[in-house]
Amino acid sequence: MNRAAIYAGTFDPITLGHLDLIGRAAAIFPRLILAVARQPPKRTMFSPEQRAAIAAEAVRELRNVEVKLFDGLLVEFARSKGVRVLVRGLRAFSDFEFEFQMALTNRKLAPDIETLFLMPSEEYSYVSSSTVRQIAELGGDVRRFVPPCAWAALQERFSQGLGVKDGPA
Ligand code: COA
Repeated sequence: MNRAAIYAGTFDPITLGHLDLIGRAAAIFPRLILAVARQPPKRTMFSPEQRAAIAAEAVRELRNVEVKLFDGLLVEFARSKGVRVLVRGLRAFSDFEFEFQMALTNRKLAPDIETLFLMPSEEYSYVSSSTVRQIAELGGDVRRFVPPCAWAALQERFSQGLGVKDGPA
């Protein structure tokens, strides 16, 4: 059996909350694929390649974690990699409804694939990529929420005069 797992998301950009979860999953599974959605349902600020590059830099020291971009259905991507476990984070009760719906939909689409929930540290339970983007755009210091590579990418972005709503540069 393939003992790998997938942690998928938009990662626009990756945050310390995501990294906390990645660390936990990477300690359980011998191989973890960080799957960056090329076309997530929401509009992104960074391009798919930028989101993947920032994520790859952030996990560089985790030997069993690799970053891949994916298109289409997550369960199809998982099958193409022979992976049967999808890892998700549950930060607060408010995450539950969306996660419940997604896990059960994925199960309908692919009964052979299981969703596993992990809890990130309470320190990061309130962090989200959109609040990070908003704070950074307004000149706030987001270094306590994101890894240095994401902070640098945010700095570069806003120094170009581009806002959150301008979409990928
Ligand atoms: N720490 C910090 N933030 C976290 C977090 C954590 N541990 N877990 C989630 N978040 C935040 C994210 O930053 C994101 O914030 P934002 O909305 O402010 O940007 C939000 O919570 C949700 O993000 P995430 O959990 O990464 O999910 P997502 O909505 O970005 O990604 C996909 C969802 C890409 C996995 C899903 O849409 C998908 O699988 N798409 C492929 C198509 C498909 O198969 N669809 C059928 C699915 S039922």
